[in-house]
Amino acid sequence: MSSRISLTRYLVEQQRMDGHIPSQLRLLLEVVARACKSISQAVNKGALGDVMGSAGSENVQGEMQKKLDIIANEVLIEANEWGGHLAAMASEEMEGIYVVPNRYPQGEYLLLFDPLDGSSNIEVNVSIGTIFSVLLKPEGTGVSEQDFLQAGCKQVAAGYCVYGPQTTLVLTVGDGVAMFTLDREQGSFILTEEDVRIPENTQEFAINMSNMRHWDAPVKRYIDECLQGKEGPRGKDFNMRWIASMVADVHRILTRGGVFMYPWDKREPNKPGKLRLMYEANPMSWLIEQAGGAATNGKQRILDIQPTQLHERVSVILGSKNEVERVTRYHSEA
Ligand code: AHG
Ligand code: MN
Ligand code: MN
Repeated sequence: MSSRISLTRYLVEQQRMDGHIPSQLRLLLEVVARACKSISQAVNKGALGDVMGSAGSENVQGEMQKKLDIIANEVLIEANEWGGHLAAMASEEMEGIYVVPNRYPQGEYLLLFDPLDGSSNIEVNVSIGTIFSVLLKPEGTGVSEQDFLQAGCKQVAAGYCVYGPQTTLVLTVGDGVAMFTLDREQGSFILTEEDVRIPENTQEFAINMSNMRHWDAPVKRYIDECLQGKEGPRGKDFNMRWIASMVADVHRILTRGGVFMYPWDKREPNKPGKLRLMYEANPMSWLIEQAGGAATNGKQRILDIQPTQLHERVSVILGSKNEVERVTRYHSEA
């Protein structure tokens, strides 16, 4: 039997070979992976556990929280607060930052997460996931929300775990993208894909077409041209997929290419988009770039955006490089 490389071994070897992973960061990633295992368990129980349905509360974005949103948030906090690797955490489900209580040692990292992405898919048994991003706390005593407001290019690790037919953890520490599949019998994540690469071209796009009438002209132009297929200016037919879980859509793109868009639209003109910059767009953009793809908000590289708020939103166009560049060019030509 060929030797199986566990997440632990992969991280140890990365640390040894390239010095990419200081030991505190290695601990952090192992703890996040452990938390994802336990979220995966809860997700799998479904209606057999007390995990389905609404929690009856709203988060800071004014969205109804599901029980699993809250459970996943608590699992991540409880797993991460005592290890001494973190100074503070921030989450889609918490208005302010969560500073590590002073009964525990404070570490030098900041962890941000979308504990459960794709909550609308829980009841219908479609893939959902957890997205996370890791930053270094700027030097100085104490920790504040301001410390989190760093551009995505400052991330030191990013990833997601998708709870689908398989539970897969996808990770970057700035040296390419690796995928690990959860072996439920062993209880460990096993390396199943290394050096993930996204094809530069694609014939598949992902966008919520029901918002078409609200889109801006450059997005309309791009999709119109795709829809015209072989007879249109692109000279080829396109396929469409929309899972409504960003993790699952991004996972497909990392696997076989494609372009994902959740652009600004006229429904809420004052918001830059629907997705959140710091714990959705930034980690996904870094993974995509690390796999040879691109990610912009139509005007600039997402990873260069200087955040001004923890829960700031952003327009997202990411995936196969040539398509993302085309949509971005349509924005500059408009
Ligand atoms: P969340 O469940 O964390 O709030 O995120 C849902 C996001 C994202 O995962 C997905 O791409 C998008 O919302 C789907 O939005 P629509 O329902 O508007 O298609
Ligand atoms: Mn989300
Ligand atoms: Mn969420």
